[in-house]
Amino acid sequence: MEKKELLYEGKAKKVFATDDKEVLLVDYKDDATAFNGLKKGTIAGKGSINNRVTNYMMQLLEKEGVKTHFIKEISDRETLVKRVSIVPLEVIIRNISAGSFAKRYGVEEGIVFAEPTIEFSYKNDDLGDPLINSYHAIALKLATREEIEKIKAMAFKVNEVMKKFFASVGVDLVDFKLEFGKLSTGEIVLADEISPDTCRFWDSKTHEKLDKDRFRRDLGNVEDAYNEMMGRIFSK
Ligand code: TMP
Ligand code: ASP
Repeated sequence: MEKKELLYEGKAKKVFATDDKEVLLVDYKDDATAFNGLKKGTIAGKGSINNRVTNYMMQLLEKEGVKTHFIKEISDRETLVKRVSIVPLEVIIRNISAGSFAKRYGVEEGIVFAEPTIEFSYKNDDLGDPLINSYHAIALKLATREEIEKIKAMAFKVNEVMKKFFASVGVDLVDFKLEFGKLSTGEIVLADEISPDTCRFWDSKTHEKLDKDRFRRDLGNVEDAYNEMMGRIFSK
């Protein structure tokens, strides 16, 4: 498969065309940003770790019946994926209070919920990815009611699979962000990435943070946390 023109460059990834119009090539960068790009840095080795971790999770989810955009890992940092049109919603599942949830509702981090929660943000950097509900998303034609119902069911299924997997490597899955895409057939598939950039991972025993919060909050040992997560995942 030939790597062709750059189609899009995001904060953490570049997307290239290939000689097959239904196939894109994703190239993961070491660049890290937070707070809608206000904080910038690099996390050495992150591109390769996020590529490999994402692909591991996508393949695990496929085995459990979740359709994804994943096709094939072609190098340390590069992966072939199905072309989709991204549904412009960030889908966030939470099992334990943290981050913007704790801030918005004035509660401490670390409260284990009786059931997982779901919320959506409108994926729009100019607006700062505002929180949105499903009625507003439908009004704005970001997705149909049927698509939103499908996305919700898939997101909760992803949570069940991932919670169990991460528990088996001594990690509490606190929360995470997913993105979904639409194939040319209209089918909704899981897209984007699943990595320490997009999930909160806490060590089950010590509650040490093993994710991008180390970068966002200047906690130090950022690279160590990413390497630790990769080591645990690939020990399975
Ligand atoms: P939040 O608590 O800041 O809303 O974040 C919830 C989850 O979403 C957390 O696991 C980090 C992830 N996330 C992203 O992947 N991208 C983003 O731009 C933000 C704000 C959060
Ligand atoms: N990547 C996001 C940004 O730059 C935010 C984050 O992950 O905290 O805004």
